[in-house]
Amino acid sequence: MIDAKKPVGFAGRLLPQGRRTRRTWLAALVFISALVALPFLFRLDGKTRADWQQFLGRFHPLAVHLPIGLLVLLPVLEIAGRRRASLREAAHFVLGLAFVCCLGSLALGYLLAFGSGTTGVVVMRHMWGGIVLTIGLMLCLLARPSWFSGRVPWLYPSLLCGVLLALIWTADQGGSLTHGANYLTQYMPVPLKRLLPYAGSTKANDSFYAKHIDPIFDANCVACHGESKSNGGLRLDSYAELMKGGKDGPVVVAGQPDKSVLLFRVTLPSDHKQFMPAEGKPPLQPEEIAWIKAWIQQGASPTLAKLDGIVIRDETPEVPLEPVGDYSALMDEIRRMQKGQGAKLLQVSSKPSDGLILNTIDAAANFNDADLARLSRFAPYIVEAELGQTAVTDASFNTLALFTHLRALHLEGTAITGDGLQKLSSLSQLTYLNLSNTRVTKAAAVHLDSLRALRHVYLYNTPAQPVAAQPIPTAQTAQTVTAQRIARNAP
Ligand code: HEC
Repeated sequence: MIDAKKPVGFAGRLLPQGRRTRRTWLAALVFISALVALPFLFRLDGKTRADWQQFLGRFHPLAVHLPIGLLVLLPVLEIAGRRRASLREAAHFVLGLAFVCCLGSLALGYLLAFGSGTTGVVVMRHMWGGIVLTIGLMLCLLARPSWFSGRVPWLYPSLLCGVLLALIWTADQGGSLTHGANYLTQYMPVPLKRLLPYAGSTKANDSFYAKHIDPIFDANCVACHGESKSNGGLRLDSYAELMKGGKDGPVVVAGQPDKSVLLFRVTLPSDHKQFMPAEGKPPLQPEEIAWIKAWIQQGASPTLAKLDGIVIRDETPEVPLEPVGDYSALMDEIRRMQKGQGAKLLQVSSKPSDGLILNTIDAAANFNDADLARLSRFAPYIVEAELGQTAVTDASFNTLALFTHLRALHLEGTAITGDGLQKLSSLSQLTYLNLSNTRVTKAAAVHLDSLRALRHVYLYNTPAQPVAAQPIPTAQTAQTVTAQRIARNAP
């Protein structure tokens, strides 16, 4: 037979009869139910809400340190209190204070996640940790008197141990939210890192997405749009997640860059509220935006290896720099030449072997093929030619072929079509070529392959890049996208 008296007797000891105490426990039960129901009543669904919620919520990372400090102090007081009764008294006060602070931090944390539309595995764990912690502290408060009086001596210490363990776990989850999951391992010595099961990327794959798009998201977005934390309900850590989209649906529409919210967000002015990456993180590079745009335009494929109009030569080995000859003897001539025309030949440094930069900024619109031809005499000493927005045409490729030490060539915004581009193949040092906003054709761009040292080629907004037909969303198209969004969100 089961001895029914035993548990009843225990409960009797734990819950002293008095009507007031019973009411307290009932209130506690209601409170626990409310806390547990919270995530179901206000689901963290990735939607952003009122600004005031985020404003208050952002105090959470600051506020949490208070209950943490109090909770670490608590066992110290309890143990030291065995000798000094006054410390035991203080412990009860500290416990009460810790509970209130914990509740406050939980509220702020919830506002932060709920208001900013943050979800994700680690966010959920952190949230449940906070809830369990708060409930645990309240139970500690209720159980402490029966421990103090010796009626139930084991319950409070066990609860307190449980609370401390929950604290460590919750704080660790919170830490990886603010600093990123690799915060502790980032500077770990390599031999130690190898022991970690998840070290090394598993995304090796030859597609344009894997080689050039995914790394952009990895470096700039995944801290906020990843598995552990996904703001706006959006994850960018894999192709499947990217295409799933965020709280308002897809963010990439294959073939339609101007309808793709992702591109819209990264091309806003950087002080715009919706600009991504958020929170003052540095904007994406223009070529990264051009790649994302071209990739979306050409179908946002996970497997396509090459995109039309995009040449990325980062794999090209860097050519060692060749010192140019000494141009000192020509300095007088250079000065005289500069007086005549707007073009300037600037010294890279005081060392003649570092070469000269051809700068046309004061003469840009008038600087033409003949002007360039007149500079042939200095050609071997010029390492950079800034011919953007000038009046030079394809005819200048003949002259440019003489610039044997040229490393960077700006031809953006000129009337160049690329006819004769292959003449530049003699330039063994040319690593940078900007042809954006020109009329360079696809047929001409093929010749780029013969420029062996080339590492950076820009063909943005040219016929060689099909995306050119639709420039990056302007303020107007941006508004259209937003309007569509708003319309979709309306009840
Ligand atoms: C510091 C954190 C942070 C970083 C970094 C960040 N985002 Fe966001 N992102 C957010 C927050 C918060 C939201 C939700 C609020 C909003 O919609 O503005 C969001 C929302 C978005 C949305 C809208 C989702 C939807 O469905 O409406 C897109 C698209 C987006 N981000 C793209 C990016 C891209 C691309 C990058 C990297 C270049 C990036 N984000 C980097 C915090 C960040």
